[in-house]
Amino acid sequence: MQKFLVIDSAVTGAQSVSRKLTDGLVSALAGEEGAVVTRRDVGHTPIPHLTEATVGAIRGAEAESAEARAALALSDTLVAELFDADVIVVAVPMYNFGMPSTLKAWFDHVLRAKVTFQYGANGAEGLLKNKRAIIVSTRAGGYAEGDGAAMDSQEPHVRTLLGFMGITDVEVVRAEKLAFGPEVAETAIADAGHALGRAVRAPLALAA
Ligand SMILES: Cc1cc2nc3c(=O)[nH]c(=O)nc-3n(C[C@H](O)[C@H](O)[C@H](O)COP(=O)(O)O)c2cc1C
Repeated sequence: MQKFLVIDSAVTGAQSVSRKLTDGLVSALAGEEGAVVTRRDVGHTPIPHLTEATVGAIRGAEAESAEARAALALSDTLVAELFDADVIVVAVPMYNFGMPSTLKAWFDHVLRAKVTFQYGANGAEGLLKNKRAIIVSTRAGGYAEGDGAAMDSQEPHVRTLLGFMGITDVEVVRAEKLAFGPEVAETAIADAGHALGRAVRAPLALAA
């Protein structure tokens, strides 16, 4: 059995290219014996930003208020979904050169010291072992090569955050140049759909 956690983060509803790609993936997986899929749509149901009232509980302090307890409970749920998954598919539209803020809020709730990472004598260690991730990246412009690459604060940031929790086996499936005309967009989306299907079927690279 292989467990998939599919995280959507676009706020564009049915128009979303990244959600179309993950919808296609989830439909395909529904026909696969042994595939179990959990979906977490933080675009549709946003994760709240950390606040003065909640940040302490997420960072290990006693959760003393109802607000803090709710934030901790949400964080525990999100972390449990991560630990439970073999493959994490993160759909990440580029918003203002980075990830959507609600996806950043999701990361703020799951990067927890002594839970998903820890510091020791050798520095930081991620505690999510034997997992792989697929980043489904969508964007209007082109950043994969040339001058645009320096403006990409989306894919590298998501890769860093996953890696910090121990998920270093990461593949990027990308549909970019979506604003370069219908033909370019259509080809990019179709290619990304095929690449996503291939990426999902790649075997788990389990650590020794
Ligand atoms: C708020 C917002 C900001 C955006 N910022 C950028 C950007 O900085 N660079 C870019 O190439 N595209 C940008 N786009 C375009 C999206 O990346 C593009 O529409 C992509 O398809 C979004 O994924 P989605 O279709 O799943 O929502 C932005 C879109 C929105 C809604």
